Amino acid sequence: MKKLILTSFILAGALSLCACGNTGTSSAESGSSEAVNSSENSGNESSADNSEVSSDSSEDVSSESTGNSTDGKKVLVAYYSATGSTKAVAEYIVNATGGDIFEITPAVPYTLEDLNYNNSDSRVCKEHDSADKTVELSNATPDNWSDYDTVFVGYPIWWGEASWVTASFVKANDFDGKTVIPFCTSASSGLGNSASDLAKSANGGTWQYGMRFSSSVAESDVTDWVNSLGL
Ligand SMILES: Cc1cc2nc3c(=O)[nH]c(=O)nc-3n(C[C@H](O)[C@H](O)[C@H](O)COP(=O)(O)O)c2cc1C
Repeated sequence: MKKLILTSFILAGALSLCACGNTGTSSAESGSSEAVNSSENSGNESSADNSEVSSDSSEDVSSESTGNSTDGKKVLVAYYSATGSTKAVAEYIVNATGGDIFEITPAVPYTLEDLNYNNSDSRVCKEHDSADKTVELSNATPDNWSDYDTVFVGYPIWWGEASWVTASFVKANDFDGKTVIPFCTSASSGLGNSASDLAKSANGGTWQYGMRFSSSVAESDVTDWVNSLGL
């Protein structure tokens, strides 16, 4: 499967990956964004259908804002970003919602060499090949976590799946009673099952669509998407 992702990357002229790992999805997208209904876990794309899925089953709180969105519900934008693209989208979402922002921070930050997917001995390649990709976080739970009604959860796509840094944040927290809206950036891969896989692994929450954006998406595209959510 990884070879399919590799092929997508190469075709997109964006990236090449190291010879490690064996998971991930093969979908590749060259458009600026896509939406996937995680409730169906099918990869069907739609930007209009707002159906939901219930999964019943850092220290960098860098904003001092209240997290209030326009209807009084408290919004948090939690994200991990290794190289800044997902961070930019997170900030666009904050601009559109007035929510608070929380950077998901690994206890041991990733260096550029750690992220070198062309080196089979790099940290990401070794982690990708490991059975348990759980990453220790410097602060797994945002301050006042129980106050938030809506949580955007952001991540870069790594080998067709959500970065396991964000996946570790999802597993570490109780989402019961919260609306959760995943978003991600990638060079070319689509959302695939990355968002629905996070929903499956989560402790509760009503998980809405995931949205994938290209690494250099314009703020207006992100704002349009946020406005379409009817928050
Ligand atoms: C280890 C690693 C694996 C990646 N795997 C994919 C992939 O499978 N598909 C893709 O389109 N991009 C892939 N990328 C590129 C990132 O998803 C893309 O650059 C993203 O926007 C980075 O977000 P960030 O700057 O917030 O970390 C990968 C990048 C890294 C470092």
